[in-house]
Amino acid sequence: MVVSMRDRFVPLTFKEKPFSQMKADSLAYYELMSRRRSVRDFSDRPVDRMVIENAIQTAGSAPSGANMQPWHFVAISDSTLKSDIRKAAEIEESAFYERRASDEWLKALAPLGTDSEKPFLEIAPWLIVIFLQKFSQGKDKTRLKNYYTSESVGIATGFLISALHNAGLVTLTHTPSPMKFLSKLCGRPSVERPYLLLVTGYPADEVTVPAIEKLPFGVVSRGIGDFGCGEAMLADKFGSSVRSFDAVAHDSRITPCNIAKVPVKADDLGVVVFCQSLMGIATAWPEYIKEASRCLPTGGILLIAESAKAIRENDRNLGSIRKVVEENGFELNDEGCYDEYKFTFIEARKL
Ligand SMILES: Cc1cc2nc3c(=O)[nH]c(=O)nc-3n(C[C@H](O)[C@H](O)[C@H](O)COP(=O)(O)O)c2cc1C
Repeated sequence: MVVSMRDRFVPLTFKEKPFSQMKADSLAYYELMSRRRSVRDFSDRPVDRMVIENAIQTAGSAPSGANMQPWHFVAISDSTLKSDIRKAAEIEESAFYERRASDEWLKALAPLGTDSEKPFLEIAPWLIVIFLQKFSQGKDKTRLKNYYTSESVGIATGFLISALHNAGLVTLTHTPSPMKFLSKLCGRPSVERPYLLLVTGYPADEVTVPAIEKLPFGVVSRGIGDFGCGEAMLADKFGSSVRSFDAVAHDSRITPCNIAKVPVKADDLGVVVFCQSLMGIATAWPEYIKEASRCLPTGGILLIAESAKAIRENDRNLGSIRKVVEENGFELNDEGCYDEYKFTFIEARKL
């Protein structure tokens, strides 16, 4: 029998924002979060417990598999305990850097300048150890299985990092490997697994961080740019991941523009498609390819399908298109470059 629980529902607290505010807020949040960096040199300036507790409450508001909330947060400011954690972490980290880590792993860590010394574990005012609970306890002390535990704890940890950053603090996500010692030092039961340790506080004076880059939007999200989209048939097929551009906008999904100058930030697309749109204006087509190159990050894909007739009329052949594509920083995929029926197909990857 299916019992309806709908009578135990409550109204959602939701206030719709005007689109202009939504746009501004989403951008402001992105700008706030893009300033977050992992910091490894902390000041010993104290931070009020209330701020840490608010951030942990934010983490506890995260979604979780079947709402089992399979997490526990231990916030530590006691200097003796922080010192014990540092000692135990450095033992594990020494073994890691000297023996356990593969050459490949050490190579990946090299740009971060990390080593087995972890003074921040003593200096930072707060360490928050996050534990993952494989099981919860039911009302009658029965053992309840938790679902999607690592996904849930990962999301809650993301909330926590975001909340601390929003409060004006910096963090370091630290995973001394293995972390079992944290269970004993924090007095947590064996059904819980230490998930990670979040170091938080103020940065040391004039702190520096590794000069690393985040993947451009085009790689993270793989948006498709349909350059010279006509009636936006790609958007019909693939939906909102397609951004449609053409000189004339047939409908509101299409951005009217010059294809040699599309309103897209550099590196913002994952794929650029010219489907019978490259050879419309004989003199401009190399500019279109140059523009596609600007919009694509390294690894981005360029796809061209052009009618042999248009190519003939423009006094071009497959060879000359290939040359221009290569001159604009692409590597051709030979298997994707061929003539078939009345069309020429070109596939290339941005180097
Ligand atoms: C799951 C996870 C584990 C990490 N473990 C460590 C660690 O043990 N030590 C460390 O110094 N940084 C650690 N980091 C931080 C990463 O090195 C850092 O997030 C990455 O280099 C990107 O830099 P950013 O956080 O400044 O953007 C970890 C990050 C994550 C997400």
